[in-house]
Amino acid sequence: MTPIKWEIHHYAVVGSTNDEAQKFCTAAGKYIVVRADSQTAGRGRRGRQWKSLAGNLFFSLALEFDLAQLGALVQLAGLAVLKTVQQIAPPAAIKLKWPNDVLLNGAKVCGMLLEKGAGNYMIVGIGVNIAHSPQNAEMLYKATSLAENGIITTAADFLADFLPIFSVDLAAWRAGRLDLTPLWLANAAKVGGVIEVRQNESVQRGIFAGVDENANLLLQQDNCVRKITAGDVFYVEKENDGF
Ligand code: BTN
Repeated sequence: MTPIKWEIHHYAVVGSTNDEAQKFCTAAGKYIVVRADSQTAGRGRRGRQWKSLAGNLFFSLALEFDLAQLGALVQLAGLAVLKTVQQIAPPAAIKLKWPNDVLLNGAKVCGMLLEKGAGNYMIVGIGVNIAHSPQNAEMLYKATSLAENGIITTAADFLADFLPIFSVDLAAWRAGRLDLTPLWLANAAKVGGVIEVRQNESVQRGIFAGVDENANLLLQQDNCVRKITAGDVFYVEKENDGF
């Protein structure tokens, strides 16, 4: 199989790498990476701001992907971030948090924003706190950085490590050689623990029973298992316990 050849575009400053990546979703069959040293309008999930200080990593992948299999793309990207950290610092306490976050020692080190691109393209925007852990009033969850945990790398090196890991897993999944959901779950924080899922005004409490084949969250409440498609998860026990 031909290895994926990524077309990489690197900028000093952009509004949002997700918006820049949109501009490259023209001809079919491309694999685009847009990276910026900083963003002036970095955005997170649910309309939140993503503070984008130079030294951290901000990039977006644009690739053709079946919208119906979006869950697989989320899982591939999350696992590739996790594996990249493990490759740089093998004993790292790194876990996945539903839907799109990566935690290091129980605090958020990476967030991802998936958006539909033109045609058959999907855009996966990834922010990794390499050097700084910006906190702001909008942040729902404690943030950390690789540097704060003694993991020293640069944004450029992290991306260079990430791309082959993501590419190999994408090819393996497409070839039917990678069963993503069990692998994602094996690396997820607090499976079986009590969580709260906040969606706009509503809060649902239950047990994090896993994820289904479309990467929806399964929340067990009494005798029923509820499928949750969107929301913010909070762990109900002590936050740093057991990660
Ligand atoms: C979140 O946790 O809410 C998702 C954060 C996603 C941030 C990344 S940084 C690169 C890309 N460009 C953006 O504007 N957002 C994503």
